[in-house]
Amino acid sequence: MIALGCDHGGYDLMQEVMKHLTERGIEFKNFGVEENRSVDYPVYAKKVAHAVASKECEKGILICGTGIGISIAANKVKGIRCALCSDCFSAQATREHNDANVLALGGRVVGAGLAVKIVDTFLHTEFSNDERHIRRISLIEE
Ligand code: RB5
Repeated sequence: MIALGCDHGGYDLMQEVMKHLTERGIEFKNFGVEENRSVDYPVYAKKVAHAVASKECEKGILICGTGIGISIAANKVKGIRCALCSDCFSAQATREHNDANVLALGGRVVGAGLAVKIVDTFLHTEFSNDERHIRRISLIEE
């Protein structure tokens, strides 16, 4: 189960992401915002972050205008490693190296075509489980 959250800056792109996940049979839980109105991105970042940190959801996807504010807010929650990605290389690397559990996208930065490729890369790339990456992640958590 993938936790989804966005603000008004990410609303339109999130509609595309939800359509893409539905077409691929990937289950998701939408934590809002449910309509395109001006809202505060930390509220949605924290809903998704808590769903992932508590293991209610396996991973999360967050979208605001830039992806910056919503990723900063998500990363305040213990156990969350939220990566803002605008390219597939970063999405692959952050799964392999950082075991990122939340992906952030900028709805005013990336188009829908690229965004869904980033989503696919993020969701389908496994953590490397390399000792050095495990050590570095545990240093983040200290
Ligand atoms: C909203 O206008 C915008 O500030 C927000 O979506 C995000 O880009 C913040 O980082």
